[in-house]
Amino acid sequence: MIKLEHVNKSFHNGKPAVRDVSFEVNTGETLVLLGTSGSGKTTTLRMINRLIAPDSGQILVNGESVNTQQTEALRRNIGYVLQDNGLFPHYTVAENIGIVPTLLKWDKKRIEERTRSLMEKLRLSVADHYDEYPQQLSGGQQQRVGLARALAADPAVLLMDEPFGALDPVTRASVRKEFRSLDEIHNKTVIMVTHDVPEAFELGNRICLMDKGAIQQTGTPAELLFNPVNDFVSNFFQEQRFWLELNALRLTDIRSWLSDTVPGENHAPVLKGEDSCWDALEQLTTLSAPVNILFNDKLVRIDTSELMHAFTQYKQTVSGHGRSTRLS
Ligand SMILES: Nc1ncnc2c1ncn2[C@@H]1O[C@H](COP(=O)(O)OP(=O)(O)O)[C@@H](O)[C@H]1O
Ligand SMILES: [Mg+2]
Repeated sequence: MIKLEHVNKSFHNGKPAVRDVSFEVNTGETLVLLGTSGSGKTTTLRMINRLIAPDSGQILVNGESVNTQQTEALRRNIGYVLQDNGLFPHYTVAENIGIVPTLLKWDKKRIEERTRSLMEKLRLSVADHYDEYPQQLSGGQQQRVGLARALAADPAVLLMDEPFGALDPVTRASVRKEFRSLDEIHNKTVIMVTHDVPEAFELGNRICLMDKGAIQQTGTPAELLFNPVNDFVSNFFQEQRFWLELNALRLTDIRSWLSDTVPGENHAPVLKGEDSCWDALEQLTTLSAPVNILFNDKLVRIDTSELMHAFTQYKQTVSGHGRSTRLS
């Protein structure tokens, strides 16, 4: 668990880099700090593991103020992944991954087993790369090693600063997917920094949107899209809004606006209630035919116009709360 309360930080020029930042992240949750360059994301992250000291405010990790914890012990319990991976060039892949377990004096066999297991989970061939040096690896592989190193001693907290930022879009998508499917992250408290909106929506359970050092809004992707608290939040997502909205909404969310048409001859379910509206649109377009969705054991058949109608109805309902002003 991580908790920030009214945290402030200015550097020597006096301009506030972080202004009155408060948020809480629970175990098993991923919070994304999202914002353009210079909005205070990295400074916020670095205060959590005491690389930067705040001017005021409280930072708690697992219920205890970071100021009262020994820096060494604190950092060993926090995995940190950097954009440029920060691997040691003169250490092999295995030595890089084993750094913290070695500091913790794990025995050799345990370190080796842990390293192999993490490499396998992150799809790094042990046979090919275990004894290689970082510069012999591709960017995507180096980033996977950086992630393995941060996870090696199974820290309760994982902090990641633009972890996929240096990768090309294709590699980025695949490393991101592997990260998402890692069972290891499900019992950790994760904070990830990014300026990439689709990445924030894909990986964040909640998103903290920052601007000029201050939080504009913290919420789930759907809350930020459908209930923005101000024009900044609303405008931030404007360019990709349609795609983001279809992705953020699950079919369950629009269930009440879908009819109860039961499939005829073809009973095979294609989608589940947990799938997104975007998943459904993709299927409908690919198949050029109606698709079946399995909701809590009830099978329903929809076509494209029904999907879009339900989506529009949902939007009208949620945006009707307080924000709509009638012109007529
Ligand atoms: N060590 C530093 N010294 C002076 N100013 C800094 C330092 N680190 C960051 N800043 C300033 O603080 C603000 C926030 O920076 P940063 O937290 O790195 O933003 P982000 O990670 O969102 O791009 C910026 O205006 C930046 O120039
Ligand atoms: Mg940064």
